Order: sequence, then C-alpha cells, then structure tokens
Amino acid sequence: MKFYFYDSASDTDQGAAKSFIKMTNGIATPKIGLATGNTPVGLYQCLVQAYNQKKISFKTFLTYNLDEYVGLTKDHPQSFAYFMNEHLFNGVDILEGNIHIPQGNVESPHVEAAKYEKLLEDAGALDVQILSIGLNGHIGFNEPGEKLHSKTHVIELTEDTRRVNSKSFPSFEEVPLSAITLGLGTIMKAKKILFIAKGFEKADIIQQAFEGPLTTDVPGSLLQLHPNIEVHLDKEAASKLARI
Ligand code: F6R
Repeated sequence: MKFYFYDSASDTDQGAAKSFIKMTNGIATPKIGLATGNTPVGLYQCLVQAYNQKKISFKTFLTYNLDEYVGLTKDHPQSFAYFMNEHLFNGVDILEGNIHIPQGNVESPHVEAAKYEKLLEDAGALDVQILSIGLNGHIGFNEPGEKLHSKTHVIELTEDTRRVNSKSFPSFEEVPLSAITLGLGTIMKAKKILFIAKGFEKADIIQQAFEGPLTTDVPGSLLQLHPNIEVHLDKEAASKLARI
C-alpha cells in the first residue's frame, strides 16, 4: 500500500487526478472501474479540467461502474448513471457505447447482476479501480456481515447506509432498499486501485480499514491484501492512522 497525504480535500482531488492520468497513460484501451458518492466528485472535476486542457482523452476508455440502486431508471436524478453523466461523462469525450453501469430498473436484478458479472469477466481485470469507503466500511455496496460475495450480486442496503445516502434523496423512505454491486473478487482483481477518502468523519473507518484486522465486518479491510493500491487521504481522513 502506498499512502499519499494532503493538507486539503482539493489537494487530495488534484493528487488523485494526477495519479489517475499517470496510471492510464500509455494504455491503449484503459478499463476503468468507477465509483460514485461525494468522494470522487472533486476528482472527476479535475479530470474534466484535465480533458479541457488536453492532458487526457477518454475516447478509448471503457468504464465499468461499481454499483447502481435497484429500481431507479438511468434518468432518475439519484441514480448513479445520472450522477456519472453529470459529474464526468458529459464533460469529456467518452463514447456512450464504452460506458457500463448495472441497470437498476429491470425485472430481475439478479439476472442483471449475473449479466454484469459476465461482462466484467469477458473484459478481464480492470486497469484502475477508483474506490472510496462508506462510514460502515463498505466498498462498492459490499456491506459488513458474516459473508462477503466475490461476484456481482444484489445486496440489501443496511439502514446505516440508507440513512447516510438519504442526504441526496428527498426523503429517507425514497432511498432504495437494495442495490446491484460488484463483489470483492472483481474489485480485488483490478490491477491498480486508486483509493480516496476525505474528511474527519472517515478517520475512524480509515484507521480500521488500513490498520485494523482483516474482517468481513469492515469489507474495506480486505484492501490491505491488494498488491497495488494507492491510498490518497486528506489530513482529516488520515488523522487516526498510527502511521502518520
Ligand atoms: C459508490 C460506492 C460507495 C461509496 C461510499 C462512500 O459507487 O460504491 O462504496 O464509495 O459509500 O460514499 P461517499 O463518497 O459519498 O462518502
């Protein structure tokens, strides 16, 4: 694990963007795993800026999002598909046919999960997976529990996660009960992981994930096993790590 510490959240975004550009530079068809949520918004802004400054082009990129809420159409303002258009895709030259996101509004989310898994298997290992962590330790939507899944699956969201995520919904009741998410196997198979976290509220879980025991109670702790992970943290998120 390689750690990068920054004074501010915006320095973290810029540092992570620089690393992303370096990691994908020279790959003819980069295969990228994308995350949503508050954390990568600043990174995506930096990438749009870098595209406008001609430092990166997404024309040959293939993207695979980590997750999607069950029941939401891609036009729903809280869907991750909508989020991606708003924060990254509309601002760069990515080709629509190269974008992959599980579909939330399908008759059988389980069938959709299996289809997405097959798509990922056919694609092979992702070159870079962009990742953050939930306050309860989830990565993707792999929630803490006795068992973790390796493959893409449908997961019931914990009440904690629904409460945290309700900030972006009109009400808690409107937060979907379940999601389709990549499993730990596919996330860990990525050749490189670009992990980002910012803010004091993440300090405890960052300490547990990167310095605590490996446990399914903190799915992010499995990242300690990844052979090529960069961890970009602002000083607030890093504040409880023993190593700093
Ligand atoms: C998003 C995802 C989640 C988020 C996590 C942190 O695609 O899979 O694991 O990365 O919930 O969310 P934020 O960044 O909003 O704190």
